[in-house]
Amino acid sequence: MFCLRSGLFQLQPLYTTTYSTRSFLFPKMDFTGGEIYQSSFDPKAYLASFCSLGSGRDDILAFRLKKLFETFGPGGLGGDMLLDIGTGPSIYHLLSACESFPHIITTDFTDSNRQELERWLRREPGTFDWSEIVKTVCDLEGHR
Ligand SMILES: C[S@@+](CC[C@H](N)C(=O)[O-])C[C@H]1O[C@@H](n2cnc3c(N)ncnc32)[C@H](O)[C@@H]1O
Repeated sequence: MFCLRSGLFQLQPLYTTTYSTRSFLFPKMDFTGGEIYQSSFDPKAYLASFCSLGSGRDDILAFRLKKLFETFGPGGLGGDMLLDIGTGPSIYHLLSACESFPHIITTDFTDSNRQELERWLRREPGTFDWSEIVKTVCDLEGHR
């Protein structure tokens, strides 16, 4: 089983003011707390900002999709089951893995994110349209 971990973290000021080698190499990192995700994470805003072409972040999204294709595409990682921790409301990062992992388990701490994905799976109106991103990944894969 391969485990993909994703999440937000922020680089914090170094541990010490003496700039030892250790503090330089291992700056303190704080992960965003679960209560912040539960109270403030907006799935639709996230999808519009980070998973939509034309949002002004196309280069970043294209870079991510290319690297994911290199990671999971031909000659890359594969296996029986992929466990994605912190899937969020998104699936773009799993598209290239679909070919190399027959089973993919998505997880998320935040209720609204799991509900957004469940609504998408049920094809409810108003859920995110992944067709442009799927097409981009198909183009990367050469329409296999
Ligand atoms: C920035 S979003 C990333 C979503 C998605 N992986 C992506 O790349 O678009 C980070 C997600 O991780 C989830 N998360 C943070 N800490 C977690 C934890 N300890 N266990 C499970 N999910 C967690 C949050 O709820 C949030 O949906």
